[in-house]
Amino acid sequence: MTARHILLLPGDGIGPEVVAETAKIIGWFSEHGPVKFTTSGALIGGAAYDATGTPFPDETLAAARKADAILLGAVGGPKWENLPYASRPERGLLGLRKELGLFANLRPAICFDALADASTLKREVVAGLDIMIVRELTGGIYFGSPRGVETLPDGTRRGVNTEVYTSPEVHRIARVAFDLAGKRGGKVCSVDKANVLECTEMWREEVIKVHQAEYPRVVLSHMYVDNAAMQLVRNPKQFDVMVTTNMFGDILSDIASMLTGSLGMLPSASLGKPDTPGVYEPVHGSAPDIAGKSLANPIATILSFAMMLRYSFDLKAEAGKLEAAVKQVLAQGLRTADIMQPGMKKVSTGEMGDAVIKALGA
Ligand code: IPM
Ligand code: MG
Repeated sequence: MTARHILLLPGDGIGPEVVAETAKIIGWFSEHGPVKFTTSGALIGGAAYDATGTPFPDETLAAARKADAILLGAVGGPKWENLPYASRPERGLLGLRKELGLFANLRPAICFDALADASTLKREVVAGLDIMIVRELTGGIYFGSPRGVETLPDGTRRGVNTEVYTSPEVHRIARVAFDLAGKRGGKVCSVDKANVLECTEMWREEVIKVHQAEYPRVVLSHMYVDNAAMQLVRNPKQFDVMVTTNMFGDILSDIASMLTGSLGMLPSASLGKPDTPGVYEPVHGSAPDIAGKSLANPIATILSFAMMLRYSFDLKAEAGKLEAAVKQVLAQGLRTADIMQPGMKKVSTGEMGDAVIKALGA
């Protein structure tokens, strides 16, 4: 039997709770599926900072490189907000993405029918929604230099960040989007701010080059990011695959999450070269306000594991089975607090995990 190793990086806040639920599900698939999964844990984020003095210890990177795939919870919290930049929990996550070269971040926003009324938007706007946001993850303003804050001779301060992309960076993320579109609805919308930012005008031109040379059958459109944000809440079903820069993708994917009912529903996969382990994590953050109270929704992390089954292990049937189990539990009316609606049964983080296992076993 094939064996695969998954590194668990629970991180901060609700991270440990949602990863613990997903670890149970990993265990279920290890027992009942064609692949045996082993797991180990390592520190990242604020938890790593508290224990070792750095949010991204060398041992964590070494363990990550050795793993077949990585499941991450969340990083950050008020406790670490006043640390210098290099010590902040977020640097752990950004360091992991950068060191592993995980340039492609896939964030599927799917509205399960049972949750169409849980969104703050009208049912008819979100019901049946299935879009894929492809966010560039290792470039752009998140990593560009110069960066930093300086105090000028007159005592005023000046802060700088730099939006920067090279054409190969644009080409490889565009290919990811076009490839995905080819297997889905056949449409890519590239989101930029080409009317103001030269860097993203270049982005648009390079996306067009890849399209013309390699993907003539995919339908390509372009949208400015302000319009894209508005269209996502006005008529999200016009989109199939959206591809965009690191920062625009960060923002648009949080918007998209609300179309699915809750930020607690959105999974993600961060992928690099085929031989690098992917990182799978919920899009939501560490939610320190509800941490440790068994209120967190583990579904985004569970669905991230489904993405792992699909993208890292090519276990499509198993991924589909897990997604169907989540759908079934929601159809049964079980809800964590974030997706609670009148007439439904409110469950804890652990009860939601157990219900998914039960649905798998049925
Ligand atoms: C995300 C998060 C991260 C990001 C933070 C925690 C660094 O918001 O994954 O969307 O900005 O990429
Ligand atoms: Mg974000």
